[in-house]
Amino acid sequence: MATATQAVRLEDNVTRFVSQTRKMLINGKWVEAASGKTFPTYNPATGEILAQVAEGDREDINRAVAAARAAFESGPWSKMTPSERGRLIWKLADLIEKHTEEFAQIESLDNGKPLTIARIADVPGTVDMFRYMAGWATKIEGNTIPISAFGAKYLAYTLREPVGVVGQIIPWNFPLMMASWKLGPALAAGCCVVLKPAEQTPLSALRLGELIQEAGIPDGVVNVVPGYGETAGAALAAHPDVDKVAFTGSTEVGKLIVQAAAGNLKKVSLELGGKSPDIVFQDADLPATVPGVSSAIFFNHGQCCCAGSRLYVEEKAFDKVVEGVSAEASKIHLGPGLDPATEMGPLVSEEQLKRVTGYLEAGFKEGAKATVGGSRHGDKGYFVKPTVLVNTNQKMKVVQEEIFGPVVTAIPFRDVDDLIAKANNTVYGLAAGVWTKDITKAHQVASKLRAGTVWINTYNIFDPALPFGGYKQSGWGREMGHEVLELYTEVKSVCLPIS
Ligand code: NAI
Ligand code: MG
Repeated sequence: MATATQAVRLEDNVTRFVSQTRKMLINGKWVEAASGKTFPTYNPATGEILAQVAEGDREDINRAVAAARAAFESGPWSKMTPSERGRLIWKLADLIEKHTEEFAQIESLDNGKPLTIARIADVPGTVDMFRYMAGWATKIEGNTIPISAFGAKYLAYTLREPVGVVGQIIPWNFPLMMASWKLGPALAAGCCVVLKPAEQTPLSALRLGELIQEAGIPDGVVNVVPGYGETAGAALAAHPDVDKVAFTGSTEVGKLIVQAAAGNLKKVSLELGGKSPDIVFQDADLPATVPGVSSAIFFNHGQCCCAGSRLYVEEKAFDKVVEGVSAEASKIHLGPGLDPATEMGPLVSEEQLKRVTGYLEAGFKEGAKATVGGSRHGDKGYFVKPTVLVNTNQKMKVVQEEIFGPVVTAIPFRDVDDLIAKANNTVYGLAAGVWTKDITKAHQVASKLRAGTVWINTYNIFDPALPFGGYKQSGWGREMGHEVLELYTEVKSVCLPIS
């Protein structure tokens, strides 16, 4: 539990970073909020205030959008060659890599995740994303197109141009990595950005802002405005001079973004919630499947949009798999993120603690039973025990709604038809897992699942080259891969008669 001492010495830069009030980055300057207000960010392992941060609001968003517009229309960014842009993005990746330990510590302190995970997942994933996108800067191409209009001869071609000024609103579950998923493709495409990190975890994006300057990315190209969603976020989504908004977060707020964007019909991309089925057939390789299924839900404390939160097991294997996953859950060591022994840290905030324990209570009220966990862990910090719920059915709130915590519901299925009906019985469609040795069956099931990603005999595999996004209410558009460039570019058709 959270009693172990923190064995890790904080990097000097981390101590510096959290000991001063953090300002926001607008037009290459670190400035206070126009209102002069600040807000606290907390250490979720203790509930104590970690740092004070300038609280951005409408006026700050206005300033940041004006800076991004100027950098886009007339600044050095628009005049830079793709090759120069790519080199700057690559340089940023190098700088982040050089500061891996520092970023991992900031992320662990602000979000609560284990430092050991931030070191091997969050920071290297961020570096990889910027490197992959740096390569795209020189490869965004149009086509030449043979057209037949009026039987004449034309030279017709398309250009892919940057969409313009982009507002990016990101969540707190992978604060630094989500910044890279958004900034990487926007910068590769030649856009200018106003980034609003989540109010729970603004620190790593602000440190990233310093490295963006150090890399030599020109002033105004990336502006970082921390603040609350209802104020700064809403102002950015509604801003009439923003050409596109990219959002990751709850489906509820995704719908608000769509409404806010309607004013100037800005382009919208959304990466929203999930309630992903993780499916185990009785012929699965159980010694590999059980830990796989367990990490599919418990990785990042279940705070993943793609968490394998609905476990479906073929009837005959149900008891064995549930027993195995429960045993895995009971072995997970909870503690503060900075303790090297910690395997699962606290949830990000008191709000999330209340939300997740509220779901557990609602589940128990409807008849669910916990084979392991089922409650808060300790009374300090925002820890929740890894939990497996049985006696659940499709109608229950815990099976239908995204919990975003270390809670998995387990339900048996009879055959593939029964399984598909249950697995697709959700408003979400982000991801799914299938565990079986029968490859034909695996592909048949994959083709029937209404989900943007299907992992077979694995889970949570992400790569900058592999598109990710949701069917149904899990979102609009695909991030990563070459698909994401469509979100940040406009296509222009050009045509002239040549006969
Ligand atoms: P949220 O959707 O409220 O927050 C995500 C981002 O949106 C933050 O930067 C926030 O400041 C901003 N935001 C909030 N309201 C806004 C508004 N009206 N206009 C513009 N921006 C706004 O998510 P929250 O409240 O932190 O978590 C609630 C639930 O959302 C979680 O329990 C989980 O189910 C889901 N969620 C899903 C995520 C994902 O990766 N798909 C990430 C975070 C939360
Ligand atoms: Mg919210």
